[in-house]
Amino acid sequence: MPSIAILGSGNGSNAQALIDAVEAGTLEATIACIISDVQNARILERAKKHHIPAHYIDCAPSPHVLRDQAEAAVLQLMEHYHIDYIILAGFMRIVKTDLLNRFPKKIINIHPSLLPAFPGLDAGRQAFESNASETGCTVHYVDAGMDTGDIILQKKISIDATDTLESLMQKMHIAEHIAYPEALNLLFNLEINR
Ligand code: GAR
Repeated sequence: MPSIAILGSGNGSNAQALIDAVEAGTLEATIACIISDVQNARILERAKKHHIPAHYIDCAPSPHVLRDQAEAAVLQLMEHYHIDYIILAGFMRIVKTDLLNRFPKKIINIHPSLLPAFPGLDAGRQAFESNASETGCTVHYVDAGMDTGDIILQKKISIDATDTLESLMQKMHIAEHIAYPEALNLLFNLEINR
């Protein structure tokens, strides 16, 4: 069974969906630890509530990148917990090459758009303001680019005339919470059958 680490910066609703799937037996994985670059992030509270080791990694002063020291700290934790896959769930930093080289095709991200449309920050708002009639979420491998890695799975949602940004993001989260466990199951089964 793969051992996974979840990295997130905020609310952690996607992490919660993965915890729930593991606890329900619909995702065969062990969540070995949850890591955040934000000390009081709700994702860490969720980890503690489920008795999953929770770690804060200090990334200051760089706002967007996982700096060398912080990256080394993450790598140390990955070794300590014998991690097979790093799962980014609302982790708002760019992962650098050391981590990518140590975990080739083993770092996965979820992004709130149908990539390659709307990469980067605020993808939900970008889609909402574009007048598109649909958007969705993408689970993909992380590579050195910005949301450019190979796609594992996408789920579409409609953007209705009555939608507000808030209602659209609610639909987005519902889609993401289905998509992430589904994509990881696909991935882990592929691995088993390789
Ligand atoms: C999710 O919508 C995720 O797709 C997005 O952050 C949100 C985190 O929510 N990630 C990105 O935008 C990455 N570029 P959560 O903390 O409730 O899981």
